[in-house]
Amino acid sequence: MPHVAWTELEAAARRDALSRIQDQFTADPDRLSRMTLDAAGLHLDLSKQSWSRAGFEAALALARACDVEGRRAALFAGEAVNLTEGRAVLHPALRAPDGAQFRALGEPVSAEVEAVRAEMKAYAQALRYGNETGATGRRFETVLHIGIGGSDLGPRLIWDALRPLDPDVDLRFVANIDPRDMAEALAGLDPETTLAIVVSKSFTTQETLLNAQAAKAWLADALPAEGLAKHFIGVTAAPEKAQAFGCGRTFAFRDWVGGRYSLWSAVSLSCVIALGWEPFQAFLDGAADMDRHFLEAPLEKNAPVLLALAEIYNVDGLLRGARSVAPYAHALRRLPAFLQQLEMESNGKQVRQDGSPVGRQTCPVVFGEPGANGQHAFFQQLHQGSQVVPVDFIIVGRTCDKTPSTYLWANALAQAQALMVGKNEAQAHAELMASGASEAEAGRLVPHKTFSGDRPSTTVLMKRLTPQTLGALIALYEHKTFVEGVIWDINSFDQWGVELGKVLAKALLKDAAKGEPSPELDPSTADLLRRLTA
Ligand code: F6P
Repeated sequence: MPHVAWTELEAAARRDALSRIQDQFTADPDRLSRMTLDAAGLHLDLSKQSWSRAGFEAALALARACDVEGRRAALFAGEAVNLTEGRAVLHPALRAPDGAQFRALGEPVSAEVEAVRAEMKAYAQALRYGNETGATGRRFETVLHIGIGGSDLGPRLIWDALRPLDPDVDLRFVANIDPRDMAEALAGLDPETTLAIVVSKSFTTQETLLNAQAAKAWLADALPAEGLAKHFIGVTAAPEKAQAFGCGRTFAFRDWVGGRYSLWSAVSLSCVIALGWEPFQAFLDGAADMDRHFLEAPLEKNAPVLLALAEIYNVDGLLRGARSVAPYAHALRRLPAFLQQLEMESNGKQVRQDGSPVGRQTCPVVFGEPGANGQHAFFQQLHQGSQVVPVDFIIVGRTCDKTPSTYLWANALAQAQALMVGKNEAQAHAELMASGASEAEAGRLVPHKTFSGDRPSTTVLMKRLTPQTLGALIALYEHKTFVEGVIWDINSFDQWGVELGKVLAKALLKDAAKGEPSPELDPSTADLLRRLTA
């Protein structure tokens, strides 16, 4: 029964809180092999987490009691796992090799997935070779990707991670409703050689539609009206809306692709155009490798399952409400932002599937910056702050073809080591005395120079950042997010929490147009609105 398993996990965590991570290596000589594994080109090390062997076993028992294996089978079988919207959740179908047999709510979908992939590939090639041109017959040199949230963060991450230094086709992104974002994206571009790709699953998102209109006005100013549609591509689950907007061509995906899980679909068309098809196919293949691992590996050696269990141990066992993500690779600088949406929009919920309260902590606050930059910003808090924040270190052996990344990964390993080992008072005192401090001075400084240590981290290591390892890394976190949702018994695939703000913004726009707050507004909002419209 899950509640017994929860009680046992909490009891194990309480016991583990009394011992140090470092000592667990002596207590359990097999700890390293028990808590490390290789999957789809990634090496995962969970041995610097707070759990003892007993805690680890209690977490696995919880996963079994919550039927992670059964729910995983339901996901891949295309059942309606998104209960509040009555939808299947089938992003793995988008990266499966040709010939797969996925079904969404019983309806076969793999042939359609393959057809869209073929269409993307052909279109991207035609564009790259100049066979598909703009209104004035010139080859497209830049793609302007317009979208927000799940229609932006994934393609941005792919592009930053895989872009060549001197791309054949450049890619610019615009997401924010702030006109400055569009102005920056358009700076220096030539309308004749710019293709706008409007990406929106719903094709109703205010920011994206406003930006699409701004791009249309910019293009229409310079191009013959009859050729304008050639400069507009829509990627959406509502193709009729994209056509009505004026997109000359649309690429579709289905409602069983969640926005934040959509980067495997035509949502990444802009990246396919700018990178070429082969890297994108390799990216899909890497994710498919992780899918296979997730489906086939036993729970105790299953990377997404163990990553999820480490989080649950921290959040619910040890009451740690935040997690930091530190990718030690400039190319992965967008990973924290991507994971923020993936995890916080998926699991930032407090009711179970049946509507009753979860009654325990769910998704932590996820934040991060690329290493080594983060070390010089918020790592002070991670080392000596009063709240313990677990860290995911993403380490790449070689980030650049020519130069080994030794300085980079040495820093990452050092940070993880420092977090775990710390520095006790005797060590701090001895160091101060060795540096010539007086006894009084040493006494005064010791508390400031002491590190409690015993702060947990996970390491995900890849030898190289390639399209495959990038695909595997993202799929790893997707499945981790799913497993957590199963264990918390929440629906990871809706996002009702973002709706209220959208509705209120529409009402405020009306008030702004009138220049007068409506009487039902609270005093603070009314006052701020008056200040902004004065
Ligand atoms: O407002 C949140 C959200 O619905 C996300 O879930 C989604 O990724 C984003 O907006 C963009 O939505 P769309 O692709 O429909 O424009």
